Amino acid sequence: MSVSQRSAVAASAASAAAAETKTGTEAAADAAVVSGLAQAGWAVYPGFVAADQVLSLLALAHAADAAGELRPAAIGAGDARRMRADIRGDRICWIEPPGAYPSESALLARLDRLRSNVNRELQLGLFDLECHYALYPAGARYTRHRDRFAGDDRRALSCVLYLNSAWCSADGGQLRLHLDGGRCVDVPPEGGTLAAFLSERIEHEVLPATRDRASIAGWFRRRAARG
Ligand code: OGA
Ligand code: MN
Repeated sequence: MSVSQRSAVAASAASAAAAETKTGTEAAADAAVVSGLAQAGWAVYPGFVAADQVLSLLALAHAADAAGELRPAAIGAGDARRMRADIRGDRICWIEPPGAYPSESALLARLDRLRSNVNRELQLGLFDLECHYALYPAGARYTRHRDRFAGDDRRALSCVLYLNSAWCSADGGQLRLHLDGGRCVDVPPEGGTLAAFLSERIEHEVLPATRDRASIAGWFRRRAARG
């Protein structure tokens, strides 16, 4: 074998090993999310997405904002749809599958693998995903709510991926999960962290931050019940 053949074999062995590690890391992440959901109805997983991908998604969110593609978010749906910045102060832009950029497509593919793992372990019957970028300017909040619209029970699992670098607790902006017995869990929106929770069960809110706060919020849905 020539030197170049040998180094090609070594390189492909290294990339196979890297791919295997990545698969192992993903499997560990999905298992942790599944176990949190099964035991408590929620899970938080730091490092769900690698730092370089988080940066690229953050750049896309900022580019969409600069291009005027982010719109003030509404609450409710259909006739109940309202703009209420006092309740919800973020600006959003929907991500259409399969994603317009490689990092978006990679994220959607990653979330789809999570969807199949969750379905396999918990039989939630998750069918598709709707998701959007969300930018909360400093001071904006989203008051306590559930991620279900009246008369529409398709949203089953909420997922939020944070895109902020070097977030510290003084920055605020935590996702506060309201649990049984008046207990709360505060999740700092640090880049790469995934928060996942059962949409029907877990009330939550976004606390105001002292700096802009970026995320991708998504909902895995079941098929609509036949009426
Ligand atoms: C939402 C939401 C939480 C967050 O968009 O419905 O609750 O931490 N987002 O951004
Ligand atoms: Mn919500």
